[in-house]
Amino acid sequence: MSKKEKKLLTARFGNISPDSIDDYIKTGGYASLKKALGMAPDAIIAEVKASGLRGRGGAGFPTGIKMESVRRATGSPKYVVCNADEGEPGNFKDRYLMEKDPHQLIEGMIISAFAVGADYGAIFVRGEYIKAIKILDNAIKQARGAGFLGKNILGTGFDFDMDVYSGAGSYVCGEEFALLAALEGKPARSIFKPPYPTTEGLNGKPTQINNVETFANIPHIIDMGGAAYAAFGSETSTGTKLISLSGNVNRPGLYEVTYDITLREIIEELGGGVPGGRAIKMVQLGGPSGPIIPPSLLDLKIDANEMRAYNLSIASGAVIVIDDRADTLDILMRIMEFFHHESCGKCTPCREGLGQVLGLLDKLVDGRATDAELELLRNLLDVMSQASLCGLGQAAPTAIKSILQYFGDELYGRIGAAKEVK
Ligand SMILES: Cc1cc2nc3c(=O)[nH]c(=O)nc-3n(C[C@H](O)[C@H](O)[C@H](O)COP(=O)(O)O)c2cc1C
Ligand code: SF4
Repeated sequence: MSKKEKKLLTARFGNISPDSIDDYIKTGGYASLKKALGMAPDAIIAEVKASGLRGRGGAGFPTGIKMESVRRATGSPKYVVCNADEGEPGNFKDRYLMEKDPHQLIEGMIISAFAVGADYGAIFVRGEYIKAIKILDNAIKQARGAGFLGKNILGTGFDFDMDVYSGAGSYVCGEEFALLAALEGKPARSIFKPPYPTTEGLNGKPTQINNVETFANIPHIIDMGGAAYAAFGSETSTGTKLISLSGNVNRPGLYEVTYDITLREIIEELGGGVPGGRAIKMVQLGGPSGPIIPPSLLDLKIDANEMRAYNLSIASGAVIVIDDRADTLDILMRIMEFFHHESCGKCTPCREGLGQVLGLLDKLVDGRATDAELELLRNLLDVMSQASLCGLGQAAPTAIKSILQYFGDELYGRIGAAKEVK
């Protein structure tokens, strides 16, 4: 195990049965809930704020501030919702968290509900995650049976219950507004914001919506205290991060690391490098909506401060390694086809822009594109990032933009290529 690996959220993986609440309790499970129920809700939120925990779903919003907003919001009832949609290719950390240690997530949600004053919770799970859904359903039943869910939890007078809901295969359901719409039985589409879910979320009521990994951190913060949690990490990146490592690496898989690890250490020390000793051509961070960076940036630590200097972030923690055999345009085509397929079609820049971008990429592939068309592509990408209604359309151009920034010659070199062949 590398010095920069730290097992906090993954400590029980393989050591307990995910079907046994007894295993969870024997290894310290639900002790944090008991502790939290003896604290004032504001004190719980203060610990989460002190921990510096930031959302692990990609955007990195401070979790304590989100909880405080829900607590202060006036609407009733209030909800906690777990975003377990994990529809972005290259991400699989949440699946492991749910399949290997479901009570850790459930305990994090119950503590959050007590802190923000919610009385109902929903876990919205990607529909393809059939095993995770089964395991969570069973774990919720067991938690109810043990008195951790339901009426008058552990005799404290606190009522809270939760259920699992399954998605139906749409990537945009991971976007929080689309997810809440889907939970309400409406088409999964985003809306103009503000208001944000903290004041008008599920059924128009205050809602704390967080990623699986974010909720899974809460029991540990209550257990060790916010300051102790914040101590392993920097000012901007505290705690551990789960990394979904995939692509051309010898040991793809899930790794839990501290934020002082570099991308190169993740790929070479944890992942065992590229098969056959081939060279790394590029690495994509976060999944299709993330930037594609050159090997020269791999010595960056995943710490937010360090990455922000390059306008990067580790986001959800997907690291996709691409070796020197890959064709850059082929990769871009696949990424943009994914977004084109997943666009909900509600707003023009995303719906129409993605089709136009694909057409221009197609021309580049065939060597029929002109300089003017490459400029048109750049403009289109800017319009999409700035004018799309939700994060899907806003982030879809990121991969091409980063290729233009770091590997521009590969695209400019394809201009007029067909003419040269003739
Ligand atoms: C298209 C799209 C897909 C998303 N998919 C997910 C997802 O699968 N899981 C997730 O936690 N957040 C996803 N997000 C981010 C959520 O909108 C939201 O920021 C997140 O659930 C907040 O939780 P956090 O603060 O714990 O990160 C997605 C955003 C967009 C725009
Ligand atoms: S950006 Fe795309 S996915 Fe988001 S609302 Fe607009 S069309 Fe739908």
